[in-house]
Amino acid sequence: MSKKEPDLHSAYALETPDDHKRLYAEWAGDYDDSFAAREDYQLHIHTARAFVGAGGQGPVLDVGAGTGLCGGVLAGLGVGPIDATDISAEMLDQAMRKDIYRDAIEADLNDGIPVPRESYSGIVSSGTFTHGHVGPEVIPALLRVARHGAQFALSINAKHFETQGFSDALKALDGDKIHNLSLPQVRIYGDLAAGENKDDTAFVALFEKT
Ligand SMILES: C[S@@+](CC[C@H](N)C(=O)[O-])C[C@H]1O[C@@H](n2cnc3c(N)ncnc32)[C@H](O)[C@@H]1O
Repeated sequence: MSKKEPDLHSAYALETPDDHKRLYAEWAGDYDDSFAAREDYQLHIHTARAFVGAGGQGPVLDVGAGTGLCGGVLAGLGVGPIDATDISAEMLDQAMRKDIYRDAIEADLNDGIPVPRESYSGIVSSGTFTHGHVGPEVIPALLRVARHGAQFALSINAKHFETQGFSDALKALDGDKIHNLSLPQVRIYGDLAAGENKDDTAFVALFEKT
């Protein structure tokens, strides 16, 4: 047990997959109340709406699904079935209690996703491509499980986008492995947020698998 309560600051400082398992195991039970509600977290809403606005359909994989916030918005918009994948068994346990997801897949994205190739017509991810979390090197693993024409909506913290090589990675894939790439920018938190990250933004990378 860490002495300090988990928060955004500790999440951004994570370095290894084991760090993630430890922090999110501790945070899972009150992530929705202590973080999402208090910080007026909005990114899952923007990501789900962008996916649907781009014509996204199920079956969908929610990548780094956490407690299921993005899946909840998608389900409310009539999208399904939705599977959840995450490195944290405790976060997935919270997600599965919400009766949104068909299946939970516990996996480290850096090791690939243990499902057959071309399983999904849509891939969403909210809040997982951020400081201390995963970088663009996992995108090929997401492309593997996506069908031809699958719609992607991946939120990427704007500062992380610049420092971790997302721009180059997406440019290298564009026109060959992916097409119809657009990068709308959204605010991660709403007007009720007060912390030092209250004005942070993310890109929602929208594209289709070729
Ligand atoms: C900030 S939370 C976002 C959760 C949810 N999508 C949301 O928007 O609230 C980031 C999630 O990414 C997961 N994660 C971090 N590193 C991962 C990895 N290497 N493989 C799979 N999931 C990972 C964490 O366990 C956590 O649930």
